[in-house]
Amino acid sequence: MTYPWQFDESVQRGTDYGDEGNVTAYDELMLRLRDVEREAAEIAEAISLSPDAVIWEIGTGTGECALRLARCCRHVFATDVSAPMLACARRKADERKIANVTFEIGGFRSGFQPDGQLDAVISQLALHHLPDFWKFQALGAISRRLRPHGRLYLRDVVFPSPIDDYDAFINAAIQELRLSAGEEIATQAVRHFKEEFSTLDWILEGMMERNGLRILRKSRSGILTAYTCESAGMPFSSAAASFAK
Ligand SMILES: C[S@@+](CC[C@H](N)C(=O)[O-])C[C@H]1O[C@@H](n2cnc3c(N)ncnc32)[C@H](O)[C@@H]1O
Repeated sequence: MTYPWQFDESVQRGTDYGDEGNVTAYDELMLRLRDVEREAAEIAEAISLSPDAVIWEIGTGTGECALRLARCCRHVFATDVSAPMLACARRKADERKIANVTFEIGGFRSGFQPDGQLDAVISQLALHHLPDFWKFQALGAISRRLRPHGRLYLRDVVFPSPIDDYDAFINAAIQELRLSAGEEIATQAVRHFKEEFSTLDWILEGMMERNGLRILRKSRSGILTAYTCESAGMPFSSAAASFAK
């Protein structure tokens, strides 16, 4: 059921990934700065990926991670709200002759959603596009889609706590990015903090736990935090009730 007051996931906030030029620039920058092969190996290990697994990546971007994980599982559903991102991802799938990835338009709670219970859900650098209440709703929806003991791997910009002076922390993080990766990424980081919706770690962790997602592992590197969670197999309402006690 959709309601007129629901958050519209099709509207890009912060960097406009609906713009083809921004997508090309993002793809080039990420391929230069990131070791996607290593990231995919870490994710496969975190979610205990098996050859018969069916998984869902939300906010797949140009699909680099989905395409690598597809080599080690049965099927990857990969969704994003950006048509140019998906066009780029589909091109890569064709070029690499990878057939077990389905790229579809969809967000955390709207658009295409895969059928059935999933072995794992993955999302990198995308959940911060939702304000907090909608993150909570998104995590609830993910929790309900996972099979019991299914895994969520979530990596995003998260504010660590406690930090005495967040202004100094953010300024230092931006400067570190400028020195290690250049002006372009520093500009993106400024836009991120100004216009997108990263969350404090204790709030995000509360949202996970209240949605029946047990945190198995947390690792922080600068402004990025990666969480591996396991579905407690509880429906949302019982999970919320058990945490309310
Ligand atoms: C910074 S990119 C990250 C892409 C990819 N996951 C990666 O690690 O390179 C953020 C992506 O999230 C997508 N996005 C924005 N809002 C979204 C939403 N509500 N649901 C799903 N994806 C969303 C954007 O279109 C963009 O492709």
